[in-house]
Amino acid sequence: MKIVNVVGARPNFMKVAPIMAAYRGAPSIEPVLVHTGQHYDERMSDLFFRELGIPEPDVNLEVGSGSHARQTAEIMVRFEEVVLAQRPAAVLVVGDVNSTIACGLVAVKLGVKLVHVEAGLRSFDRGMPEEINRVLTDSISDLLFCTEQSGMDNLAREGLAADRCFLVGNCMVDTLLKNLEKARQSRILEELRLEPRGFVVVTLHRPSNVDDERQLGGILDALREVQQDYRVVFPVHPRTRKMLERDALRARVAAMPNLLLLDPAGYLDFVRLCDAARLVLTDSGGIQEETTIMGVPCLTLRHNTERPVTCTVGTNQLVGNDPARILDAYHAVLSGAAGRGEAPPLWDGRAAERIVAILAERLAS
Ligand code: UD1
Repeated sequence: MKIVNVVGARPNFMKVAPIMAAYRGAPSIEPVLVHTGQHYDERMSDLFFRELGIPEPDVNLEVGSGSHARQTAEIMVRFEEVVLAQRPAAVLVVGDVNSTIACGLVAVKLGVKLVHVEAGLRSFDRGMPEEINRVLTDSISDLLFCTEQSGMDNLAREGLAADRCFLVGNCMVDTLLKNLEKARQSRILEELRLEPRGFVVVTLHRPSNVDDERQLGGILDALREVQQDYRVVFPVHPRTRKMLERDALRARVAAMPNLLLLDPAGYLDFVRLCDAARLVLTDSGGIQEETTIMGVPCLTLRHNTERPVTCTVGTNQLVGNDPARILDAYHAVLSGAAGRGEAPPLWDGRAAERIVAILAERLAS
């Protein structure tokens, strides 16, 4: 029973790694790994394969960057040939990136069963490209695996049959728990001369935060104050790097001596940084989950989250992107207002095993 598994962009790699490993315990399944090439830089892709021990992709579609339409369409055209040649029993997609919806659509149009891992998450913000990808992928999937109860509830509300939806836990957390000790061996703190809890980590890449110069400028205003108290470590996504290179923003960054801009970090270094940080400021989805498991306070620079359990159970707080509000929340964390949070149900490192056991049973019938 062949399953074609799709990865495309950076956050996909941590989710597929434990699934590829769990297939080793399911001899009836023959996994094939396809990389769409949505992310292609060494530090956005290959480094993660090496660190996480993901097998070399069987196929790389090498689509690269482009507008949403161009990227999605190019993935579809190239992936269709792969599915026709491989004739799998199912295609498995993860997360909410353009590769997810593109490959999902190709699979169902060819009559191949579609499996979505990290289904049901909803920000209820249709202005986010990922929200469109989530809603559409879920609506055409045959088997849907959720990380948290809110996902199950959303799918039920959208009319998806309960016998196709499973609460299994979180594959990204599988990867984190497996690699946490290894990450703690990373030398990144020494290399950057950082003391545990003596610095703050920042990541920004959402179009709503970084594509508009004024919006990004406002966040930099907040960071100017934070860097007066702490070293601010900021691994910069390529999308954000382009904006920071504009003259007006470059001057503001240059005026912050305690702000350290880095190239995109590898997985192990990044986990080490977050694990030792005083707090994390981010607009990423996955980092809200990872900080919850590490018990590190996370301020999410967005107005909504598709991962509400990280706020209700974990260490996450939504603070939007207004500088005054970001700073209020930052000071509240420093005054000790944030607790360590707890791990959400089933975020125990075994999600991928559960998924593969269900696939082996359900796809065989
Ligand atoms: C994509 C996902 C987003 C995810 C993010 C994680 C979509 C719609 N968005 O956003 O959900 O949170 O990945 O990183 O799928 N670039 C490089 N090198 C690379 C990849 C990209 O330089 O290896 C640059 C290109 O200029 C590109 C830009 O980054 O135009 C954006 O890349 P893209 O894949 O379109 O979207 P992300 O912003 O990375």
